[in-house]
Amino acid sequence: MKRVMSSVYMQWAKKKSASRYNLAACGLAHYPLTGLPVTVADLNPLARGGSYGYALLQQALAARYGISPENVVAAAGTSMANMLAMSAILDPGDEVLLEHPAYELLLAALGYLQADIRRFSRRPESGFALDPHEIERAITPRTRLIVITNLHNPSSALASDETLRAIGDVARGVGARVLVDEVYREAVFDQPPKTAFHLGPEFVITSSLTKVYGLSGLRCGWILAEPDLVRRIWLLDDLFDVNMAHPAERLSVIAFQNFAPVADRARGLLDTNRQILNQFLASRADLEVQPLEFGTTVFPRLLTGSVDAFCDLFRNKYQGTVVPGAFFEMPDHFRIGIGGETEPLRESLAQLGAALDEFRG
Ligand SMILES: Cc1ncc(COP(=O)(O)O)c(C=O)c1O
Repeated sequence: MKRVMSSVYMQWAKKKSASRYNLAACGLAHYPLTGLPVTVADLNPLARGGSYGYALLQQALAARYGISPENVVAAAGTSMANMLAMSAILDPGDEVLLEHPAYELLLAALGYLQADIRRFSRRPESGFALDPHEIERAITPRTRLIVITNLHNPSSALASDETLRAIGDVARGVGARVLVDEVYREAVFDQPPKTAFHLGPEFVITSSLTKVYGLSGLRCGWILAEPDLVRRIWLLDDLFDVNMAHPAERLSVIAFQNFAPVADRARGLLDTNRQILNQFLASRADLEVQPLEFGTTVFPRLLTGSVDAFCDLFRNKYQGTVVPGAFFEMPDHFRIGIGGETEPLRESLAQLGAALDEFRG
């Protein structure tokens, strides 16, 4: 099995996604550092003693979910959280079920780990809902892990506890675990935050502050898992990045201590932007899509013409970007992100509409 050594999506995201009318980003506009009550003294000392995690951050994460710090591993973003969790669970050749369409980095990371990747569908005609029966059909006695995102990237579909519980039952039947990437679950803004972690010991959760709160610069991510797996992940982390940057750990603790304004700003921005997006979507006969209920991204199907040709037109003539659906293995769709500031978002959607009009005409 040939090992995957790069992510085509990340290369595109880093080199090609930026534009004046950027609808490609999936996270929120940056939260200002001045919005956190931080002094230089709060960041001192710059380093901490070597330990498995920074106690204050471990406690903040555990308190957030009402669980023990023994169930928590802090990691550099959801990306590292996913890589660590999957690496600790899987041996090369192990069978994994991954949703389709999927966030490409999950596929690439599993390819790097030389997993035997099988897919199950989230169907556009069902609003990309997770269907436990699809997983039941795909699972085998060899399956070690089921990988899903909730909310789903790219569609933002939300899975209910009932659905997740049913998936947990299917996994338990063959002794597999369920990795739920909940980085966009944060955008539902439940208080306290809901997580599939409480649904059973087979659930392994990853998330971060990077996408929904505009705090991507802190790279504050985490894994929630049962204590044996947590210990294995900490030992593995010694091979990957040893410790997170300590000033980022300190800033992350400060962010958790002052979370209400961070979350309020995120919720307000997304509520406003979602209304603007839904008005835009309702006006487009050339896109097939449900209105967005939660989340930061939507994944319409372009009813006529090539999405790649449309993306070229949007970039070259209208200075805009969306994410081509090919990165999600659905080349007749594209992804729109709505996490930008509101006025730029409005302008970007107007540009997108003008580009779609020209493309259709
Ligand atoms: C489902 C999903 N997980 C993880 C990530 C990466 O998140 P982070 O920036 O926290 O590493 C992304 C980014 O787009 C994502 O869509």
